[in-house]
Amino acid sequence: MSFTELLVHGSVQELSAAAGEGIAEGLRRALAGGAATLALAGGSTPAGAYRHIARHYAGLAWEDVAVFWGDERYVAHDSSQSNYRMARETLLDRVPIPAVRVHPMPTDAPDPDDAAGAYEELLWREFGELPRFDVLVLGLGQDGHIASLFPGADALQESLRWVLATEAPSDPRRRLTLTLPVINNARSVHFIVSGARKHGALTRALADRAPSPDCPASLVRPREGTLTWWVDEAALCGRGD
Ligand code: 6PG
Repeated sequence: MSFTELLVHGSVQELSAAAGEGIAEGLRRALAGGAATLALAGGSTPAGAYRHIARHYAGLAWEDVAVFWGDERYVAHDSSQSNYRMARETLLDRVPIPAVRVHPMPTDAPDPDDAAGAYEELLWREFGELPRFDVLVLGLGQDGHIASLFPGADALQESLRWVLATEAPSDPRRRLTLTLPVINNARSVHFIVSGARKHGALTRALADRAPSPDCPASLVRPREGTLTWWVDEAALCGRGD
């Protein structure tokens, strides 16, 4: 069973709070079964939701939550461009999660392909099968990209690998990303989209047309999971910002 919902909020502040609540609810639901797995998005939009979770849900059973990333820029973990650093500063340093439960994508190998293979091996050890994240967070690029899967990329056709090294059209170019088989195997996928500059990509992603590699977001169709679009009016209507 899969279903999609679109939830619209007046401001980015309201959006961040609502998306934070939705993500926390997904974690709570999984923790009721004893453990939760969370894959975080990078970029800037999710930061508000992460801060909301840290502020209001530090009391969750974080020792039973395993945290991963949906993608990473191939930079040092202390770089201002690091998705790991953004999540640490906004969420993970503010909740009592044991370090062993935090699994950043490695960015220290000379070859990103080796790092992708290493993360895949980690996922195998943690899941033992195709990873099924209880909660998987995504942002939306202005070009419709998700994680580090960009329009027209060969990586969008990947059906076997779980993690790939990819190339972004802008700096930082070298990336690591989960692939669509993993993303679409999630129990709940949460897009967080804010701002008028995302209006075009959001419109294309929500259009009831055949999914297309030209708009990677349109390829996010959880096989047996929920897809929630947390958006603000600026992104949906293309005004303000
Ligand atoms: C990244 C993200 C990427 C992001 C979009 C939107 O590494 O940059 O994972 O997929 O979600 O580019 O980024 P903003 O939220 O900064 O607009």
